Amino acid sequence: MTTLYDNHGRPITYVRLAVTDRCNLRCFYCMPEEGIRYLPKKQLLTFEEIERLISILASLGISKVRLTGGEPFVRNDLMKLINRISEIPGIQDLHLTTNGVLTAPYVPELKKLGIASVNLSLDTLDKSRFHAITRRDEFEPVMRTLNLLLEHKIPVKINAVVMDGKNIDDILPLIEFSRNNAVDIRFIEEMPFNGEGNHYPTLNWTYRKILQYIEQHYPTLTKIPDAAFSTSYNYKIPGYTGSVGVIAAFSRTFCGTCNRIRLTAQGTLKTCLYDDGVLDVRQLLRNGANDEQIKQQLLKAFTSRSKDGFEAERKRVNQSPASESMSTIGG
Ligand code: GTP
Ligand code: 5AD
Ligand code: SF4
Repeated sequence: MTTLYDNHGRPITYVRLAVTDRCNLRCFYCMPEEGIRYLPKKQLLTFEEIERLISILASLGISKVRLTGGEPFVRNDLMKLINRISEIPGIQDLHLTTNGVLTAPYVPELKKLGIASVNLSLDTLDKSRFHAITRRDEFEPVMRTLNLLLEHKIPVKINAVVMDGKNIDDILPLIEFSRNNAVDIRFIEEMPFNGEGNHYPTLNWTYRKILQYIEQHYPTLTKIPDAAFSTSYNYKIPGYTGSVGVIAAFSRTFCGTCNRIRLTAQGTLKTCLYDDGVLDVRQLLRNGANDEQIKQQLLKAFTSRSKDGFEAERKRVNQSPASESMSTIGG
């Protein structure tokens, strides 16, 4: 398989696909509590459209697919789609990012079809704080999912967004969870994509500050090598089974090795998390474009990428990234 390189010499091998914009939680850093206008279902890509598109992307050298949302399991028959994608020639690694509320019953099937890893969005291990952050009382089913993933030995990462004044006290308990469990705990800088129009020109809890805080409590914290194209800087605490990482999502320190593109729930291509969409793929699909025509349009977009998230943000037509929600972008 040939690998495709963008205009900055970065290989493009990873697509993040949001299968729905709907979610069964209301994390305040992602969505407003009320007044959310979900997309009409007919605006979502159908399973057939997704399968066709992923096959085209695979023919261009994409080998890793991550399903995101919203919450992927809110989409009906998600397992059918996952099974179909897992059989597309060229797709070697299939991953999932989920909040875990509805995921537990599907863990054995995910294991069976060879899911490469599951990233679980979980910002606290405290039931009442979970409720305060997500505005829903769903802590137990999420923990059931986490325990089942571990039991089935599916590689699991916990994604915890670090929120100033909200869950700083959760950092150490989350790290402690990795003492006896084979899980990577990753602390993420909060990004201003909360659907509420907030804008943060500066961020208090940057990845550096998060790391300093962790180091103060764990002086033996040791850097370990990062996987290729990793979004996280990763560390070990001697004697701990799992690992700890930080993701500089707002500081955008890893753009130089960015190998990923995104498809939003309504089929818009983003070649950077911070752009406002560079190609309406759904329109192409629905206007009868053939595979070759779609390929050409994709290639054109892949070879005119912004060099980093700052350039992508500057080039936006819709200037406020904050008015977007992570639930349509898929993180
Ligand atoms: P792995 O494939 O396991 O490394 O996961 P991932 O980090 O690519 O994906 P995940 O869905 O777990 O995302 C974790 C956090 O990193 C989320 O907050 C994402 O929004 C953020 N993130 C993922 N990819 C990018 C990216 O390309 N740019 C930026 N700025 N943030 C990203
Ligand atoms: N800032 C940083 N990360 C976020 N996520 C969702 N919204 C934000 C935000 N505003 C994370 C979720 C999920 C991943 C896909 O994106 O925690 O794990
Ligand atoms: Fe890639 Fe944009 Fe994320 Fe940087 S901010 S890593 S260029 S998607």
